[in-house]
Amino acid sequence: MKTLVLSYSHTGNNAKLAKCITNQLEADFFPIREIKKRNIGTIIFDVLFNSTPQIQDFDFFVGKYDHVVLIGPVWIGKIASPFRAVFKSYHSVIGPYSFVTLCAGTHDDNPKIEEELERRAGKAPEAVVKLFLKDLFSNDIKVKKSEIDNLKITDKTAMMLANDVCKKLKANTYSKTA
Ligand SMILES: Cc1cc2nc3c(=O)[nH]c(=O)nc-3n(C[C@H](O)[C@H](O)[C@H](O)COP(=O)(O)O)c2cc1C
Repeated sequence: MKTLVLSYSHTGNNAKLAKCITNQLEADFFPIREIKKRNIGTIIFDVLFNSTPQIQDFDFFVGKYDHVVLIGPVWIGKIASPFRAVFKSYHSVIGPYSFVTLCAGTHDDNPKIEEELERRAGKAPEAVVKLFLKDLFSNDIKVKKSEIDNLKITDKTAMMLANDVCKKLKANTYSKTA
């Protein structure tokens, strides 16, 4: 089974996670690259105005993969806007796909992600795995929301989270298609 990990990361968390998942799944890896430099202002602009940023074209045929694992952050309850460009350009050739996010989870559990994926991709994902930075803190300690939002995971944490994600992906996807 040929798997592609397609990832986007603004501050590094999802990039670290994506690399560990790629290794564990023995997948191919491709980072989504934006044409323009991103900042907090453009994150908010894209969410408010539902706009689609430009990304670099893929220099390979994404349709050749049996499973595409999209990995990236959630911004203001929405899938990070660079994925909109992926869905717009490639939804017709992307086959079975899953979505994995390492996000803060400080407001709620981002309940609208599944609906957004289905709408943008034109089909339901095989699996959605949401990991929350808030869960990396002990319940016994009082932590500020800003500390959670700004947490940068270590390589060791990325590896541990990737183990968990791969088990879930394998249970949901690989058992169906193997
Ligand atoms: C402007 C902004 C909005 C965010 N909105 C959400 C949100 O709605 N839900 C959530 O769980 N996390 C939210 N986050 C947290 C990010 O998803 C989280 O920090 C993630 O790990 C960043 O991934 P990256 O380092 O790969 O870019 C937001 C972060 C930023 C900067």
